[in-house]
Amino acid sequence: MTTVTAQSHPNIAFIKYWGDRDASLHIPSNGSISMNLEGLSTHTQVTFDPGLPEDRLALNRHISKGPALQRVSAMLDRVRQMTGLNLFAQVTSSNNFPTGTGIASSASAFAALALAASSAAGLTLDECDLSRLARTGSGSACRSVPGGFVEWQTGSDDEDSYAFSIAPPDYWDLVDCVAILSKKHKPVGSKEGHQSAGSSPLQEARLADAPRRLDICRRTILERDFDALAEIVEQDCNMMHAVMMTSLPGLFYWEPATLAVMQAVLEWRKAGLPVCYTIDAGSNVHVLCLASVADRVDQNLREIEGVQEVLIARPGGPARLEYS
Ligand code: PMV
Repeated sequence: MTTVTAQSHPNIAFIKYWGDRDASLHIPSNGSISMNLEGLSTHTQVTFDPGLPEDRLALNRHISKGPALQRVSAMLDRVRQMTGLNLFAQVTSSNNFPTGTGIASSASAFAALALAASSAAGLTLDECDLSRLARTGSGSACRSVPGGFVEWQTGSDDEDSYAFSIAPPDYWDLVDCVAILSKKHKPVGSKEGHQSAGSSPLQEARLADAPRRLDICRRTILERDFDALAEIVEQDCNMMHAVMMTSLPGLFYWEPATLAVMQAVLEWRKAGLPVCYTIDAGSNVHVLCLASVADRVDQNLREIEGVQEVLIARPGGPARLEYS
């Protein structure tokens, strides 16, 4: 009986994944680009145990059943199929940041689980195969496997849809100041959101324009061009939220304070601060800035009504095993 622990970071998408070509395998409708978030992490321990009658999951110190356990078991089933192992597993996982509020907890969860489960079953997967395995748990999890600034190529099937690093964490001193406005679990999960994306008449235009946004985003990272990055990141975020709001049924993740932060960020940038916003499927706002102004941005954010807390994250490394 081997116990393996893995750690991984959530990631913030600069160019968002929203909508699937193949929902069961999470083959996305468009490519995406993200940055891993150092300091925020998921730790996951997996033990395949001959004494267990079924898979068990403890999430943030609580026994978890229902849909969360089913998703974990589905990934364990894949690992069992890959190895021929016929044992159930105890999975113990915890996050040091709020779960299910638009800070990509499912991304770090499934990246860490893919690594811990495959290693506990005796597999040594390369980064590409690990990214593919993580993707089957939650699409964006494939981007938490490689380190730093990461691109997920759409691909057309299970084989060629995976993520890779486009620049290491120390390539660019960016900071994500996450303005926490709510720690409530989001009302509609991304799974339902991806499914309804196609019901918005705006999704087709969003997808058709994705290669342009990806090219600009990739280039602005490689050239460390903050102003151009800010523009494309905000446009991409606004396009995804426009699709969400015009889907059937309409999806609204923002709270009044979300818009207050967005407007403040635009004003700060106009006044010369290198800062921009992006928002995933939740109300919390990721405020990206250059490290040189992170303290000031942190302070400014705390003065906005409705901001409960600010988490600070620099570019993070890849998913990795932990040895005790
Ligand atoms: O991986 P999922 O199914 O949780 O979807 C992620 C969706 C967004 O966070 C909104 C965008 C993204 O690319 O991370």
